Amino acid sequence: IPVDEFDLVIFGGTGDLARRKILPGLYRRFRSGQMPEGARIIGAARADQDSAAYRKMIQDAIEEFVPEKSRDSESIAEFIKLLEYIPIDATGEGGWKELAAMVRKEVVKAFYFSVGPSLFGDLAERLHKYGIADDQSRLVVEKPFGRDLDSAKALNAVLAQHFDESQIYRIDHYLGKETVQNLMAVRFGNILFEPLWNSQYVDHIQITAAETVAVGSRGAYYDKSGAMRDMVQNHLMQLLCLIAMEPPNEFEPDAVRDEKLKVIRALDPVAQSDIVRGQYSGNADGPSYVEEAENPDSKTECFVAMKVNISNWRWKGTPIYLRTGKRLRARESEIAVVFKDPPHSIFGEQDGRRGNVLVIRLQPNEGMNLRVTIKEPGPGGMRLMEVPLDMSFAEALGPDAEDVPDAYERLIMDVIRGNQTLFMRGDEVEAAWAWTDPIIKGWTERGDKPKLYDPGSSGPEDALMLLHKDGRRWREIK
Ligand code: BG6
Repeated sequence: IPVDEFDLVIFGGTGDLARRKILPGLYRRFRSGQMPEGARIIGAARADQDSAAYRKMIQDAIEEFVPEKSRDSESIAEFIKLLEYIPIDATGEGGWKELAAMVRKEVVKAFYFSVGPSLFGDLAERLHKYGIADDQSRLVVEKPFGRDLDSAKALNAVLAQHFDESQIYRIDHYLGKETVQNLMAVRFGNILFEPLWNSQYVDHIQITAAETVAVGSRGAYYDKSGAMRDMVQNHLMQLLCLIAMEPPNEFEPDAVRDEKLKVIRALDPVAQSDIVRGQYSGNADGPSYVEEAENPDSKTECFVAMKVNISNWRWKGTPIYLRTGKRLRARESEIAVVFKDPPHSIFGEQDGRRGNVLVIRLQPNEGMNLRVTIKEPGPGGMRLMEVPLDMSFAEALGPDAEDVPDAYERLIMDVIRGNQTLFMRGDEVEAAWAWTDPIIKGWTERGDKPKLYDPGSSGPEDALMLLHKDGRRWREIK
């Protein structure tokens, strides 16, 4: 279904994110027929170039970042006609009058701040000063949304001077992933799971976001952030919220976000002994973390594993283990809900060691799978085996499966539709930092150095121990 006519202004329109994700995503929506004829996308950045040069730049980006199967030169040529470019001075006055003249009054207006947070205030102020934004306009902001509670509060305050919370769309691209939304459909669209979804039946939950990529050229930036700020405070916590929250009474933005917020507020502080941090060492395939960070004494983690407890009626006693890292064995993100063993073994020894596990795979091969125990087929007596009940989106959707929309394209279309469900509210972000801050402070004050791990492994040995000491084990990263 096409969305309403819109003007989307992308500040930082020539940047990496715009070229890699935002514009390729918009192109794919255009190609699928979801973009109305009157849509217009305005790139705004410092570079002094004209719209023709910008169109060429974006054409190149689409050719580089959209798989061949999902693009064709005809539709690219049509798509880039929607693009305009305006050189703009974010902290000065250059370009703003021109932008004001270009943005239409009568259509949906969205402003995407794909720039560092230090510019948020300047941009928001000028959008109003020049009469470009109004109280219906939407504002999209990217992470990092602050680096601690104080800076997040300050950013929220700056935005609140010019925009109402109902106009602000804080992106966490994990919320746009197909399976993440499916998680809600599975939990709340079936009767099957909800009765078991509590500490009486769930032994523990594992949330893994393993990456094979190194920090690479982002080393210097990344070293000031680390995995806790880069992945846990946002992406992993969002997954944790969706898996643990109470059923919202309707699938509406604030109903969902209220429930997520309650989960964050119910998180216990984490003991330092329940945290393992790591840095990859170097090998023939690539430099070590500290080399890439250009900081031989770096104490920043690019791997973190931790045990988290939720103090509420549903989850008390069911730990949630989180794990994420760079340069690991495989790119694999999943949530595994590990159920308890049946209370009594009627099949003797072989029974009871095969608990049910529901795995929600975010990437690759999005899908779900439920491990169940059955009888081994054949006349060999009552022997048990485990089989996965497998649901792969690729198979379910058929040959078009590659066209599962990318997280960004879905989220941008939600902005145009005015649906905030999959975006973080200001209080959620602040609550997440309020929980994260003391954890980071804890290891910073102790001066802990992360443990080294081999690239291509599943992280430091100590991360295995984190579960072993509880009599559990991580699912393998394969
Ligand atoms: C980003 C982080 O938010 O998410 C990156 O800044 C990380 O460090 C990326 O690589 C992972 O996203 P995805 O979609 O590839 O899992």
